[in-house]
Amino acid sequence: MPDECIAALQPAEGKVIADLTLGGGGHTERLLEAGATVYGFDQDLEAIQFASERLARFGSRFIPVHSNFCGIERELTLRGVEHLDGVLIDLGVSSRQLDAPERGFSFMREGPLDMRMDANDPTMQTAADLVNTWEAEELARIFFQYGEEKFSRKIAREIVSYRSLHPFQTTLELADLIERVVPKRGPKHPATRVFQALRIAVNHEMSVLEQTLDALPRMLGDGGRLAIITFHSLEDRMVKLDFRKRSQEMLDHESWPEPRPNPDYAYRLVKRKPLLPTDEEIRVNPRSRSAKVRVAERLPRK
Ligand SMILES: C[S@@+](CC[C@H](N)C(=O)[O-])C[C@H]1O[C@@H](n2cnc3c(N)ncnc32)[C@H](O)[C@@H]1O
Repeated sequence: MPDECIAALQPAEGKVIADLTLGGGGHTERLLEAGATVYGFDQDLEAIQFASERLARFGSRFIPVHSNFCGIERELTLRGVEHLDGVLIDLGVSSRQLDAPERGFSFMREGPLDMRMDANDPTMQTAADLVNTWEAEELARIFFQYGEEKFSRKIAREIVSYRSLHPFQTTLELADLIERVVPKRGPKHPATRVFQALRIAVNHEMSVLEQTLDALPRMLGDGGRLAIITFHSLEDRMVKLDFRKRSQEMLDHESWPEPRPNPDYAYRLVKRKPLLPTDEEIRVNPRSRSAKVRVAERLPRK
C-alpha cells in the first residue's frame, strides 16, 4: 500500500509536494528519492528533529515545517509557495509517538496521561485534564462518538467516581480501571477505544481535518494529486464525504427545476474505491489492518 500511495502522487524532479504528516519521515524519503521537493509538516517537534536528521542528505529539497497542518495555507504562503503538485496525509500517531511512554499515547506503557501531539504547546489540555475535569456526559459522548465505545456511559461514570478520590495521572491507572469495568471483547485491549477517543479529543483531530480538507482545493495546483491514509472509520467517512462533495459536477434536488453547477466541484476521483492493505501487509504490520487510502486529483481551474 505505501508503494501505491507514493506512486499515486507521481513524485518527480521539479514537483513540489507537501507531506502533512512527516512523522519518522519514511514517506517523505520516498518522495525525495523520486526527485520531488518536499515540505514536511508535523506539529510534533521531536518528529521534525528526527526526520530532519534522517533527510539531511537531500539538502534544500526537504523543508521541515513545525506546524499543525491546518496552518498549511499560511505556512506555505510565508514560504512563497502558491500551489502544490501533491499532498500526502497519513493520519494518526506515529510508532515513535506510540512507543514513547512519556507521550502517554499507549495503554500498554506507564507514562503521564498526556496525548498532545504538540507536547510543547502549554495551552492545550492533556488527556489527564479531560478525564479529571469533564462531566461524565461529555466524556461518554467522546468515548461513543470518537471511539465507538459501547460501554461509554459506564466507563465515564466509573472515571468520575474514581477520580474524586484519585485524580488520574498515568496511562496505566486509566487502562486498569477500564479493564476492571469493561468485559474483554476479542483480541483488542478493552482500553483501545477510549484511548483513541481521548487522543482525537485532545488534538481536536476531527475539526482540524475538516478545516484542512476545505483548504486543500485552493492549495493544489491543476492536476495536483491528494492521497489520504486513514485508520478509523470516522476519519475515513469525513474524507469520503469530502471527496464525494467535490467530485460532482452538478447538484440536483427534487425541488429544483433543473440540476445546478456544484460550487465545490474541484476533484476527479483517481480511484472510486479506497486502496486497502493486502493480507501480507497486515501480517508484516498489524497496525495497517484498518488503513484505507483515498486519492483525488485537482481538476484544472477554468
Ligand atoms: C502516522 S504518523 C506519519 C508517519 C509517516 N508517514 C512516516 O512515514 O513515518 C502521523 C504523524 O502526523 C503528525 N500529525 C498528526 N496530526 C497532525 C496535524 N494536525 N498537524 C501536524 N502534524 C500532525 C503526528 O505528530 C505524527 O508524527
